[in-house]
Amino acid sequence: MPCEKVNVMSNAFEGKIAVVTGGTSGIGGAVSEELLKRGATVWVIGSRQESVEKAKKSLAAYPKARFAAVDVTVGDQVKEMIGTCVRVDGRLDYLFNNAGIGMTHPSRHLTLDMWKKAVDLNLWGVIYGIHYALPVMLAQKGGHIVNTSSVAGIIAPPSQAVYCATKYAVTGMTESLRYEFSDQGISFTTVCPANVATAIFGSAEVPKEAIPADEAARIILDGVEKKEGLVIFPEFARNLYERFLHDPDLKERFMLEYAKRRNAGWASGVPYLGIPDDMLGMK
Ligand SMILES: NC(=O)c1ccc[n+]([C@@H]2O[C@H](COP(=O)([O-])OP(=O)(O)OC[C@H]3O[C@@H](n4cnc5c(N)ncnc54)[C@H](OP(=O)(O)O)[C@@H]3O)[C@@H](O)[C@H]2O)c1
Repeated sequence: MPCEKVNVMSNAFEGKIAVVTGGTSGIGGAVSEELLKRGATVWVIGSRQESVEKAKKSLAAYPKARFAAVDVTVGDQVKEMIGTCVRVDGRLDYLFNNAGIGMTHPSRHLTLDMWKKAVDLNLWGVIYGIHYALPVMLAQKGGHIVNTSSVAGIIAPPSQAVYCATKYAVTGMTESLRYEFSDQGISFTTVCPANVATAIFGSAEVPKEAIPADEAARIILDGVEKKEGLVIFPEFARNLYERFLHDPDLKERFMLEYAKRRNAGWASGVPYLGIPDDMLGMK
């Protein structure tokens, strides 16, 4: 008798407990909603009560959404966030260390306060998350930590020295941990988006190649579900990364042209925040 083929959609997130920092906006907001759609309980975290209230309203249809205002640059608050999640929901399956700020700026005008702000949030926020979640995940013999880096955490664009310092650190730290804990049931994923249309661009124009946050969320969760080490997207960014690995001369030419455009942007008062994708056909 012929066997009927049944298409069963796998879903790693059904019934799982997740914390998403920076879950009140942009990529984290879309990841939170996608996780909720896929049946997870999600702690949606922002630092400002105002953004938390806004997220509460927009996710009101999901009974498994929980909300908290937590400043991830403060270790004790992150400790309490993880502790509360475990106390209320009994475990922590996924931690998305996603909260972060962008910083594209001419480096000679950077202040030490700017360096500190970015390092505190983009790096220490992730370190605190790992530090307090890892013991929980080791004790429960399983868990997955997903750290949002950036394409600027694997390719270093000009005028992004601060941002690259934090994001390269996140990529390196996550990759190292991934191998160290590979035999202890703990998974690590580094997420490396190129431009995604979110509030991170502030009042500047969103680059034309930016993809919508909900598309980014689906790509991220598909990669997490497959336990991929590096989730680089969209496709052109992944291709670019791979081409640079194999062709350092191409990378050099591309980056020098990129710097020229960015420096001209600063000089003219119209920042060049996009990616020179017209150069991708370059030989
Ligand atoms: N968008 C892109 O093109 C892009 C590209 C590559 C990488 N990324 C990375 O993706 C991540 C998310 O960025 P996004 O574009 O979605 O930005 P976004 O829309 O500006 O969202 C940032 C989120 O972080 C939260 N946040 C900020 N400071 C915080 C703090 N001290 N403690 C806790 N939460 C805090 C914000 O909530 P509150 O306002 O309440 O603090 C908000 O929910 C960042 O790590 C960013 O570097 C973004």
